[in-house]
Amino acid sequence: MSASSYDSSDFWAKKAKKEGYPARSVYKLMELDAKFKFFKPGVRVLDIGAAPGSWSLWTLQRIGERGFLAALDLQNLGVSPANNNFFFLRGDLYDDAVRQAIQERGPYDVVMSDAAPSTSGNSGLDTDRSEAIVEAVLDYADSMLKPGGTVIAKLFMGGGQKELLDRMKKSYTSARAFKPQSCRSVSFETYVLGFGKKAPK
Ligand SMILES: C[S@@+](CC[C@H](N)C(=O)[O-])C[C@H]1O[C@@H](n2cnc3c(N)ncnc32)[C@H](O)[C@@H]1O
Repeated sequence: MSASSYDSSDFWAKKAKKEGYPARSVYKLMELDAKFKFFKPGVRVLDIGAAPGSWSLWTLQRIGERGFLAALDLQNLGVSPANNNFFFLRGDLYDDAVRQAIQERGPYDVVMSDAAPSTSGNSGLDTDRSEAIVEAVLDYADSMLKPGGTVIAKLFMGGGQKELLDRMKKSYTSARAFKPQSCRSVSFETYVLGFGKKAPK
């Protein structure tokens, strides 16, 4: 994400700049948490696709000093939280070494992903790539999320939402999609959420 995140015509981007967040996406996370209440002080969180870092900044405030946040992205963050309870790894979520390093710092109470593929202009290809990212995020959650935990992942609409929710309903007490108001009205993205991860049998 670049400085173009601060599109001057965009209410949410202006608000983010004024409030010190590097991306407008922070308001989507605030809205998701206000509705579903997955953060509380002391929880352990994994943030996949974290750059430039607005979700991470806000999450650190919500979880407090007793919580822990691990974040990963292909890009460096545009912010440098100095918190002792924060770990950032630059790398590809599909990379086994990255996955191992993230697993070693788990388990987590919340696994969240705002990761999105670079858009190609080919909507079929982009939604397939988005669906593949969500599948990979669910794989992370399968092995790193605590029983009772919550998974949240951004999905380009059309990207296999029904199949993903069907998969999630097998491993979580409930699963649903939700599109925050602060997503651009023209945006083709939504979030899929799984609540109450079931304990392994
Ligand atoms: C919309 S941005 C995330 C914004 C972030 N939530 C924030 O609030 O600052 C999507 C991010 O997903 C990352 N991403 C896409 N594919 C990835 C992959 N395979 N591994 C790691 N990160 C990836 C991109 O580099 C990009 O920074």
